[in-house]
Amino acid sequence: MRSLIDIKDLSLEEIDELIETANDIIENPEKYSQKCKGKKLATLFFEPSTRTRLSFEAAMYELGGNVLGFSEANSSSASKGESVADTSRVVSCYADIIAMRHPKEGAPLVASQNASIPVINAGDGGHNHPTQTLADLLTIKREKGRLDNFCIGFCGDLKFGRTVHSLISALSGYKNIKIILISPNELVIPDYIKEEILIKNNIEFVETRSLEEAMPELDVLYMTRVQGERFFNEADYIRLRDSYILDLHKLENAKKDLAILHPLPRVNEISVAVDDDKRACYFKQVLNGKFIRMALIMKLLEVK
Ligand code: CP
Repeated sequence: MRSLIDIKDLSLEEIDELIETANDIIENPEKYSQKCKGKKLATLFFEPSTRTRLSFEAAMYELGGNVLGFSEANSSSASKGESVADTSRVVSCYADIIAMRHPKEGAPLVASQNASIPVINAGDGGHNHPTQTLADLLTIKREKGRLDNFCIGFCGDLKFGRTVHSLISALSGYKNIKIILISPNELVIPDYIKEEILIKNNIEFVETRSLEEAMPELDVLYMTRVQGERFFNEADYIRLRDSYILDLHKLENAKKDLAILHPLPRVNEISVAVDDDKRACYFKQVLNGKFIRMALIMKLLEVK
């Protein structure tokens, strides 16, 4: 039985296979419409979500399966003090696979150690978000035609942005990736990502405060929201939340085939005027998230 807690739980070959399956689902959705008939997905969301929870649910329905679960801790017995370990043992009696989001880093790992069914990490605190990474990789592959030989800029909250941490980890397996880390001083990438992923894997990277200076070099721009919910101090959040706002003026120096990604939700960091630019890929990324989650559910349930 396999779970997905960290993107590194998957080999590059397995990621390629998932991307291939997702592309086939996009081309031939009817082939997959009964693949999970009789199976149940439990979505255990202890933290808010629109895309991840609903795309998991849509994915299971489009595979012919069913869904149960909760969308906030207060509507579960966690509010009475039940542990993540007990919750996952209990839900194993009702479902075939779990997708869990939790504000505490490591909670989905604990769930996977206590559940008797596969557990998917749907985001744990400021740590990891591996299924968003799969959606990001599928989007980059579909937009650029490759997962190697490109320059990607990560812009915004690189400290708390779990999607950034997971995507950098995944990209460390591909050849000739250059990473430009664009953030205010207070929101730089954590040292453990720099030391254990970037330096250890000899990934070329630079850190800068200037989106404008980085822009001409980028093949992919990954914008992020400043994660207000992870700040200890409201005044710091207010000061930093609008550090970067991507607008059409800033895109004047960008490559014509730049791909702009954002895991969403967006607050202010991308002007709505950018949405009509053909380089904006973030709503395609949302749709890709459903297809790659369909592929992942099938893989973990060992559905052929
Ligand atoms: N990208 C993402 O995780 O969005 P949600 O928080 O809406 O699930």
